[in-house]
Amino acid sequence: MATIKIDGREIPFEQGDTIIRAAHRAGIDIPHYCWHPGLSVAANCRMCLVEVLPPPGRPAMQLDILRWDPEKKDYVPARKPKLVPSCQQACAPGMEVLSDTSDHVEEARGAVQELLLLNHPVDCPICDQAGECRLQDYWLEHQRSGKRMRQEIVHKPKATPFGPTIIYDAERCIICTRCVRFTAEVAKDPVLSVRERGNLNEIVVSPGRQLDHNYTLMTEHVCPVGALTSIDFRFKARVWFLRSARAICQGCATGCNAYLDYDPRTNTPHRYRPRDNMEVNKYWMCDEGMLSYKRAVEGRLSMALVGGEDAGVDDALAAAKEQLAGHGDDPGRVAIVLSATHSNEDNFALLTLAKTFIGAKDLYVSGKPLGQGDDILMSADKNSNTRGVMALAGASSPKPFAELIDAIHAGKYAYVIALGAELEVDAQEAKNALSKLKGVVTIAAHEGPLVSAAHIALPACTWAETDGTYVNRQGIAQRSERALLPRGEARPGWELVARLGRALGYAMSWKTLAEVRRALSPDETTGVPRDAAERALVQKPEVSA
Ligand code: SF4
Ligand code: SF4
Ligand code: FES
Repeated sequence: MATIKIDGREIPFEQGDTIIRAAHRAGIDIPHYCWHPGLSVAANCRMCLVEVLPPPGRPAMQLDILRWDPEKKDYVPARKPKLVPSCQQACAPGMEVLSDTSDHVEEARGAVQELLLLNHPVDCPICDQAGECRLQDYWLEHQRSGKRMRQEIVHKPKATPFGPTIIYDAERCIICTRCVRFTAEVAKDPVLSVRERGNLNEIVVSPGRQLDHNYTLMTEHVCPVGALTSIDFRFKARVWFLRSARAICQGCATGCNAYLDYDPRTNTPHRYRPRDNMEVNKYWMCDEGMLSYKRAVEGRLSMALVGGEDAGVDDALAAAKEQLAGHGDDPGRVAIVLSATHSNEDNFALLTLAKTFIGAKDLYVSGKPLGQGDDILMSADKNSNTRGVMALAGASSPKPFAELIDAIHAGKYAYVIALGAELEVDAQEAKNALSKLKGVVTIAAHEGPLVSAAHIALPACTWAETDGTYVNRQGIAQRSERALLPRGEARPGWELVARLGRALGYAMSWKTLAEVRRALSPDETTGVPRDAAERALVQKPEVSA
């Protein structure tokens, strides 16, 4: 593979790569505002300037400039190499690039910073981007001096709503046009544009429109400064107090990779941010998914319920034993409901209880009803683990919940043991059917029809409170990492299944997630079912876009 050198380090590049793209892939950070690896090149901020050395034997391209001479106290003619924007300059074999090692580049980056900050309000103490703002970071890395302009700055509109989710502050905007390009190129809704020129320019929404498509929060996320802020997040938390867990969005079957940012002091989730994964979501997430972090705490079942009344988990398990008494005499009368919204580990535990211990044969699956999909990211299947459940069940493929209702009306079952809270059928219809049974035990993280219809409900952790594996629509098994401490008495779903099994007199000895994962996939420790299409996810270097 052809290579270029950046500051003496040899890195490979692919046909058509720009210098910054090749550097980014190799984990080398070249400062940039307007460039984003998922967007077209605008080359308007000039922060990514580098010095490209001339080929051997050729003179460097020089520019005539005027340089301040402190002794003469005047500008004098001078020359300097012509720098190039690395986001636009294509790589060529053997090219030698100076980035951090060039004095000319260092000077240029400082000058670009000074220019960008000339009219900036520097309201960092009250800016929601503080702590993760490129202007702050690059000022510290590349400028570190005050600006020389003494005049009043150009004032522009502040706190302008762009739509239901985003607020714009024109004074902070550096007109990098990332938001404009994102809406046009990724969201495919070119609703933003630039108005005016020079220091009067600002971003505007098309007349008669709002920024209101399915990816508005991404326009805020791609903004490298505090010009766009999310109404949901602004003024709720300071980012330096937050921690990040590597999560998988539970909003649909796409399984976008995300960081779940949470405050460990209050055990509160605050936002989702996309985590780059070229095979799944590239750099993006949809609004529905980005706001779905709230489900980690909203509508929770945090206590066990016995007959609809709060109870301790141990008491609920004792009550479940009574309610399911006699189930072992005729396992054919037990229906098992897996959940397309729970992890492989939770579903595998319930499958093991059903097949290995109870001897139940009939499997059903619960989940959210179909919703809106698109040809960008969103799946119509709003469940995060449909393929995982199908792969785990193998040949005994689970039937839709609607068929369980028919079977109950036909008198086929006396008992149901279910995982999950969500149903794609009418809640009342489900409740009417389940109320005919002798015993209904549900393990769920949220309130919902399956919980309200259950004799006994056990409080499970959400995806945010426990590690879990989910298989997305492409068949890629992905791990989601625990962020929060369990709410109330919630415990991981697999653990509650194992405790239920023990309460029913079965030898379900699992006490740790590692034991479940080993049982799930004995040849390895990935926790991935062997019959699911498993693909290794390439870890990208941690260079931010
Ligand atoms: S709002 Fe943000 S992303 Fe859009 S042009 Fe201004 S600085 Fe760039
Ligand atoms: S596309 Fe699906 S998985 Fe991705 S962010 Fe949206 S809801 Fe979440
Ligand atoms: S990042 Fe290259 S000019 Fe803006």
